[in-house]
Amino acid sequence: MRVGMPVLSLRSRLIGCILLVLAASLAVGSAMALRNASRLVAAELDATLEVAAQTVRDGIDDFANEPDHAQAARRLVAGFDGDRHATATLLDRAGNTLARSSLHPPTEVVPGWFRSLLAPSPARVRFDLPDGGAIVLAADPLNELAERWSELGDSLRQLGLFFVLAAAAVLWITQRALRPLHQLARALERIEAGDYAAHVEVRGPPEIGRLAATFNRMATQLATTEALNARLHLQLLNLQEEERADLARDLHDDIGPFLFAVNVHAAGIGKLAETGRTEEIAAQVRAIHDAVGHMQGHVKAILGRLRPARPEAFGLGEAIDGLVAFWRHRHPDIAFVANSTLEEEALDETAKETIYRLVQESLTNAVRHGRPQRIEVALARDPSGAARLRVADDGRGAAVPAQGVGFGLAGMRERVAALGGQLAVESGPQGGWTVTASLPTAASPLVAP
Ligand SMILES: Nc1ncnc2c1ncn2[C@@H]1O[C@H](COP(=O)(O)OP(=O)(O)OP(=O)(O)O)[C@@H](O)[C@H]1O
Ligand SMILES: [Mg+2]
Repeated sequence: MRVGMPVLSLRSRLIGCILLVLAASLAVGSAMALRNASRLVAAELDATLEVAAQTVRDGIDDFANEPDHAQAARRLVAGFDGDRHATATLLDRAGNTLARSSLHPPTEVVPGWFRSLLAPSPARVRFDLPDGGAIVLAADPLNELAERWSELGDSLRQLGLFFVLAAAAVLWITQRALRPLHQLARALERIEAGDYAAHVEVRGPPEIGRLAATFNRMATQLATTEALNARLHLQLLNLQEEERADLARDLHDDIGPFLFAVNVHAAGIGKLAETGRTEEIAAQVRAIHDAVGHMQGHVKAILGRLRPARPEAFGLGEAIDGLVAFWRHRHPDIAFVANSTLEEEALDETAKETIYRLVQESLTNAVRHGRPQRIEVALARDPSGAARLRVADDGRGAAVPAQGVGFGLAGMRERVAALGGQLAVESGPQGGWTVTASLPTAASPLVAP
């Protein structure tokens, strides 16, 4: 925005532009009208002078029948009294004025600028009389200019009226047309303040109607996304709670008994030492060793859960093995089979992270929802060069749910789509659940549909 320039609203600019065009047309129209009027005045005066000259010529010709020429000449000049455009003057031999006809008084007062702009150069015709005198005819534009001035006034009044009506119409139309935009601005402010229920009425011209409809769709979409985020947040909090409760249970169940055992054995050793049965102490010490060994195993498993192997730290194969080992430890009744023939160099870090997350969610889902006996994880390169991940279980299966049931499937779809890959989820009629993902690799930048 330029500093110092007044910022005009769209409405003011529209009205200003239209008024400017109207004013320019008015100016051009007036200039043309003046030019035309000037031509008309000149033509009218020429014609008048011509007719008057003919009258004088005829009068002088008739002098032959007149006994008193001087009287006849005065009558001829007086005949022009009240003429609108010409005056006749009778001169004697010496050039003195003997008589002059009077001009019809003009009905309008013509401003000086109008007269100097339109009045043609003065035209005169002189007729010599037999007695040496003369009759001089002169064209006077005053009456003609008064007529034109009056006509111009009428035209300007009409144009002015048109001007005012047009400006009022423009004002009304722009006000109506821009009203939806004001509504839209107010709704946007509500959205900015976090009120996604803000909607606008779809009306007005088609362009603005389309804008309003698109805005409403956007607001609905934002509201849906906001609700989804809120659910996700809640679920994250619940997950955290579950995870902590799980951990507390594990510590209690897995470590507590062994700590108790260590305590008992330590007390036993004390008693054996007091009573002098030292040969039995070795067995107690072994029992303490065993208990500590068990506790170390459990603590390692808990640490493994708290800090799972990540692909970027250990390599994808090892990270997947870590996931499988985690579940195998918790569900020894399920047969886990993991197999990878894919060279990891073909995958970038994002692809590895994505595959890791897909395996993590698929294994969790299989154990949680499928109750399977066997889960297979296979990672390979398909003929097109794309990386293909398949996680299949032989559990009870389920119809693939619509979106919005959980976040796992939606998250998997989003991650795969972000890489330009494809995800398929299938559940057979006899049960079982299979997740297959194809991801682009360095060897196959685009995944075939
Ligand atoms: N291996 C599976 N066997 C049977 N049903 C499954 C399997 N995987 C997913 N489902 C079904 O698909 C639904 C959606 O799975 P999704 O992972 O999106 O959500 P969730 O596991 O219920 O919750 P979340 O993953 O958000 O914690 C599950 O509720 C379940 O009904
Ligand atoms: Mg899930």
